[in-house]
Amino acid sequence: MELREAIGRRRSTRFLLPHQPVERHKIQRMLEAARLASHWGNVGSLRAIVVERDQASQEVLDALPSPVAGYQIRLAPVAIVWYLDNTAVDRQPDRLRELVDAGALGYGDDRHQALEEQLIPIFVDKGVLEALKQPGLNDLDCGQGIAQATLMAFEQGLGTCLLGSANHERIRQRLGLPDTCRVLVVQTVGYPAESPECGGQRPRQPFEEMFQLNHPDTPFPREPEVVEELEHDRMFQTPAPLPWREAELAWLVKAFDLEGNGML
Ligand SMILES: Cc1cc2nc3c(=O)[nH]c(=O)nc-3n(C[C@H](O)[C@H](O)[C@H](O)COP(=O)(O)O)c2cc1C
Repeated sequence: MELREAIGRRRSTRFLLPHQPVERHKIQRMLEAARLASHWGNVGSLRAIVVERDQASQEVLDALPSPVAGYQIRLAPVAIVWYLDNTAVDRQPDRLRELVDAGALGYGDDRHQALEEQLIPIFVDKGVLEALKQPGLNDLDCGQGIAQATLMAFEQGLGTCLLGSANHERIRQRLGLPDTCRVLVVQTVGYPAESPECGGQRPRQPFEEMFQLNHPDTPFPREPEVVEELEHDRMFQTPAPLPWREAELAWLVKAFDLEGNGML
């Protein structure tokens, strides 16, 4: 699948087939995609524990549901707990040295010396590394990894939904992760019980309100030709709700014996 279509097809899939396991090699490809994502200073603080519902302890499974993710967690054969390990930030100087060795960062014969005398002291001596452990850049970079994993899931015919939770600390403790770690999000993974359209492409905020050119008062000009091109490439697809979405939802509710009119 072309990247443009993959971006367009990626939709949060909340109804997954509980009885169909996910092959480990498909999960591995998701993790491999996450590992290749860019991260400031090449720190790589993203981590994940893959929880297979059939294999995990009841204690761990009991920790996963949240007030905003009840039936989704119950249906999902796999939940990936994405978390951040802040001790990776402490090793940042070594990551920079690797980048210089690789010829990715800096230039000229003196670049190793410049790294040791100019760049690394900025991070280490001024306590910047400690500040960078706070929510911010690290979280953003982890999000890039999770986004790549999500596209890889869709490319392999899987459905996923990211689930925030008020219970991240409980999940961290049940999984036995040290307190240098912070749980970011739980991602359900499985084979979709919904049609591939998942009811149509979900609504988004207007382009003109989101992006500006040179000045906050100047919307970035949106060329209709580009919009048409992206429609042609299937990055833009039929907006939700498709005419038969209500019938599909009713069918899913019946199939999974869910409460009618439910959210969670
Ligand atoms: C970080 C993050 C957390 C989310 N948490 C939840 C959640 O707790 N429950 C849920 O049903 N959807 C959750 N979502 C999914 C969004 O609600 C979803 O993006 C939105 O429905 C738009 O649909 P789409 O992803 O299909 O385009 C989350 C998405 C992100 C990126």
